[in-house]
Amino acid sequence: MLPDPFQPQLKIHTSTVIRNIGQLVTVAQNPISGATGVLQIIEHAALAVHNGVITWIGRDDDTGPLFLQDPAENKEGINLVDAQGAVITPGFVDSHTHLVFAGDRAEEFHLRRAGTSYGELLAQGRGILTTMQATREASAETLLELATKRLNTMRNFGTTTVEVKTGYGLNVATEEACLRIINNLNSLEQSSFNQQNNIRVIPTFLGAHSIPPEYKNSRDNYVDLIVEEMLPSFVGLARFCDVFCEREAFTLEESRRILTRARELGYRLKLHADQLSPSGGSRLAAELGATSADHLDHASNDDLDALRAAGVVATLLPGCSYSLRSPYPSARRFIDRGLYVALATDFNPGTSYCENMQMILDLAMSSMGMSLEEALTATTINGARALSLQDQIGSLEVGKQCELALWSIKDYHEIGYHFGVNLIHSVLVQR
Ligand code: NIG
Ligand code: FE
Repeated sequence: MLPDPFQPQLKIHTSTVIRNIGQLVTVAQNPISGATGVLQIIEHAALAVHNGVITWIGRDDDTGPLFLQDPAENKEGINLVDAQGAVITPGFVDSHTHLVFAGDRAEEFHLRRAGTSYGELLAQGRGILTTMQATREASAETLLELATKRLNTMRNFGTTTVEVKTGYGLNVATEEACLRIINNLNSLEQSSFNQQNNIRVIPTFLGAHSIPPEYKNSRDNYVDLIVEEMLPSFVGLARFCDVFCEREAFTLEESRRILTRARELGYRLKLHADQLSPSGGSRLAAELGATSADHLDHASNDDLDALRAAGVVATLLPGCSYSLRSPYPSARRFIDRGLYVALATDFNPGTSYCENMQMILDLAMSSMGMSLEEALTATTINGARALSLQDQIGSLEVGKQCELALWSIKDYHEIGYHFGVNLIHSVLVQR
């Protein structure tokens, strides 16, 4: 399109233009001109980026004005990317992972296959405590190396932002070391990829994951340690505080005490709620204004109404149902009650040893009653909501960060249909 000499030219700052996008699945929350459907899709699209922020979205035929800017303003010229007709979506936002740990629990996985339950293993002092032991024994270098490898796998499967919890240290020194590793992942990512395709990492403190063995007979003292020592000294190292509120982990009262103190100190809140039994966790998440309540397998309809009224995002984790062979929560029940539903991997060595958000999306569609549109929303913009980042990431709109997934498919309807393979070509992130 040629510029109209009588119209003042719209000034669009552009350093990168991605052209020849077969389908741009924006998942925009506001209508975009030329886009159709609930996911606001633009066919034959292009997208411009400047300083890591999306500055223009539209049809590829309309990109002319992008190239008319003053060359003095853009000395390096415009970096052109040819998407070769591919589908582009927002990168996945994986809002719940336990990425930093050493060791594995293959033995327990197979014991569960043979009939021992996850709860029984926890009660025997295995489960989380098996991983705690291996994590305490590992060096910081080993933990960082393992975490980096896992992060790379996540990126290869399309994730561009990931929340990472501590919770396998369970003492001051190892919890702090894990938080520093998580924060390090962010800065390492920024330098080693030359600011290209670096995953955004959001740190969460989950010291209240399990009572460590040394406090087995004095659990109140461990809660004191979290409230009086860990929480105050980890301010600035973690954005969220999470608690595993469950029969085998922390009681409702202990969870309330920890999260209330965390909130006073400026942490945002998350909760592992109603996973193995009705723990009251979702009510507590609503009461305290948590950003998200996660798992929710045993949440009642009243619990869901409380979450919705309090604006808490419901994060569902089908990897756990798959791995524990427990019934999948019906996503319909949540969506029909008007909740924002996010999906995440819950990547961890016990209940969901899976880095792959495409697998999670496939499970949500095959076993939780979600449509493709709902599952894509849940793995992108609603994942961002579960991290209070919905104004920055999770959809492709002008003003949002450039965090894209390029798929090696021509039509987004192949997602979920063609399963068990990696459909992601690459991610494209600019900061
Ligand atoms: O989200 N539920 C608590 N935490 C993890 C499991 C951690 C583990 O088993 O190591 C979860 O399922
Ligand atoms: Fe978890």
